[in-house]
Amino acid sequence: MVLPTLNLIVPASRIVPPDDGEADLVALYEHAPGALRANMIATVDGGAWGPDHVSGSINDDADWRVFRVQRALADVVVVGAGTARAEQYTQLGRPDGLAHLRAAPLELALVTRSGDVPPLLVQADRLPYVITGARGAAAAQAALPADRVIVVPATGRDGDGGDEDRDVDRGDVDLAAGLSALAALGLRRVLCEGGPHLLADLLAAGLVDELCVTTSPRLVGPGPSRIVAGEGPASGASAAPAGARLAHLLHEPAAGTLLARWLLRAGDDGSATGEAGG
Ligand SMILES: NC(=O)c1ccc[n+]([C@@H]2O[C@H](COP(=O)([O-])OP(=O)(O)OC[C@H]3O[C@@H](n4cnc5c(N)ncnc54)[C@H](OP(=O)(O)O)[C@@H]3O)[C@@H](O)[C@H]2O)c1
Repeated sequence: MVLPTLNLIVPASRIVPPDDGEADLVALYEHAPGALRANMIATVDGGAWGPDHVSGSINDDADWRVFRVQRALADVVVVGAGTARAEQYTQLGRPDGLAHLRAAPLELALVTRSGDVPPLLVQADRLPYVITGARGAAAAQAALPADRVIVVPATGRDGDGGDEDRDVDRGDVDLAAGLSALAALGLRRVLCEGGPHLLADLLAAGLVDELCVTTSPRLVGPGPSRIVAGEGPASGASAAPAGARLAHLLHEPAAGTLLARWLLRAGDDGSATGEAGG
């Protein structure tokens, strides 16, 4: 048995001090057109939210620093409707001091089966895009102008009662088609900020290029879900764990927060596959 080499990353890392333009972080989190980055935070014991049922109680300034840079580099933030409701999303803006990084405004795209758009977003000056399926189309179109509603129903029905039929019955969305529609609007750098159900579906569809995970130095006990949640594969189905390759790891020494950037597509060494099993 050949034992693997281990790289000691954290003590050997260089210091990345706060900087108005965040040039170091901008380089570390370069966002290529066509790439979908997901950004999530989890506690040491795997919780995706704190006692108040939102992630604000488990994040901190280190997470905020990276969060801002990621928003500055994206064309569009994609979130599940559950997250928009829980975290009370409003119209997004480019983070202060980083607006020069992209000429266009930061767009928001909400993914929903129900088509139920939170009132805060309907009232915004800059309206969100809504990506929905057959079940949510009418409600979304009643709330928003037609050019803000992307209707992309899952179309896999073959009547055998399998997973694809279940997706159609739930009013599911063809997420790949939704992302293609955003790309056609010029929104090609996609930042998904969750939540756990949407992330699970994007991973299962093999649509996530990289997963940034902040490990919050806290424990919240049983209750909160993991950063991926849902029904998983149909009973009897099994999938091998998918690979991920570490691009970098940042450590905030005062609190102990860890910020990792994981690449999910096959790398040069073929070690990561990006084909999550859901
Ligand atoms: N730790 C973190 O980084 C993080 C990040 C984000 C959120 N959160 C937390 O996660 C919690 C919310 O969890 P959640 O799993 O319910 O969030 P979620 O995935 O954002 O919301 C689920 C809802 O989003 C819509 N949705 C998700 N996947 C869909 C798909 N494939 N097709 C169509 N619609 C889809 C549906 O909306 P409809 O109901 O409208 O059909 C669904 O009910 C909150 O407590 C929030 O604070 C944590």
